[in-house]
Amino acid sequence: MNTLAFALAAFGYLFITWFVYRNYPRAWRENRTFRKVLFLWHIVGLLSVTAIFTWFRYIPYDNIRYELCRLGTFYYIPLTLMALLYLILLIYSQAYQFILRHTGREISDRARAYYVDKKFFAVLFTSISFGMCVLGYFNIDFLHLQTYEVRAAAKSAERELTICLVADVHAGAGTWEYLYDEMQEMIDACEADVLLLDGDIFDETTNAKDVKDVRRVLETIKKPRYGMFYVSGNHDGAWVAEEMRRAGVTVLDGKMVTVGRDIQIIGVPDEHHGASDIEQLFSQVRPDPDKPIITAIHRPSHYSALSVLGSDLAVSGHTHGFNVFSFLGANILGDMYCGAEEYGDMTAITTSGVSAWGFHYKWPARSEIVKIHLTFGQ
Ligand SMILES: [Fe+2]
Repeated sequence: MNTLAFALAAFGYLFITWFVYRNYPRAWRENRTFRKVLFLWHIVGLLSVTAIFTWFRYIPYDNIRYELCRLGTFYYIPLTLMALLYLILLIYSQAYQFILRHTGREISDRARAYYVDKKFFAVLFTSISFGMCVLGYFNIDFLHLQTYEVRAAAKSAERELTICLVADVHAGAGTWEYLYDEMQEMIDACEADVLLLDGDIFDETTNAKDVKDVRRVLETIKKPRYGMFYVSGNHDGAWVAEEMRRAGVTVLDGKMVTVGRDIQIIGVPDEHHGASDIEQLFSQVRPDPDKPIITAIHRPSHYSALSVLGSDLAVSGHTHGFNVFSFLGANILGDMYCGAEEYGDMTAITTSGVSAWGFHYKWPARSEIVKIHLTFGQ
């Protein structure tokens, strides 16, 4: 994260902290014990979040990293949720009062008691926020295998192709040790012909140990007969391509490979790693439009264009599924959150990914590895 973005985020969080604090009942705010607990939560939380965004990767001790990640998660997630809930309440109460003023009606005593007292909302919002945080904290660890059956319109000399799609491992702050064993077992269970690593395998919090853990997975899995391929994600550093090559993975950014007799796989580099002009890329790699075309792109975007260009299947990740925090990030700009959708003759599949960025949280989306069984016209 660059310095300006970090400064803006820190400033934003000071404002959010003040906004949430102002909404607590006066009696709570005047209670010394409550103020002390709140102060401690904010200090520990802010220090943990700062660590995650800055010097996290330099911490060599796993236990310290995990504790900081836990503390950061139980600060950032509930605080953000509380701010969001109070914002909704503010908008709702302002709209309600506006309507009352213009209709000449009086606010009911019951509604006034809730709003003036504030205790009801403070207890409700605190419970919801921490409850959702606990839910997401445990939910992210349940990796499941999601399968899709896709019938491609294109004719091929091959009857079928099985793809194992893995994205958004974000090996680092949010990943626990045992995740890698589960990943390995699930990739093996796919019995895929092709392994597609669709970006954000690492992120800014990755340290040498995480790199080793991912490499161990790639070295120990049953090797897919047509190979392992990688396209870059927005959180992958420039070093990741080299690391992938070292692990025996083909870097597909801006390239096309043909697997089997005629199945073409095109890799679109993320905007962070080069131009992602789809038309230009297709005119460079020149796929045969009469043969199957599979496109791997990290962000679920350009789906309509890819369909027009003749892609039969497009796969993405990036969104981490339909997550509460997707509303707050740039993910709303993508074509879809998660699942499979048809774009003309093309099927688009977006995975919610193996983990998530920075914090140990994912809900209501689930963590997944995807198996795609693709069949072709003969
Ligand atoms: Fe991403």
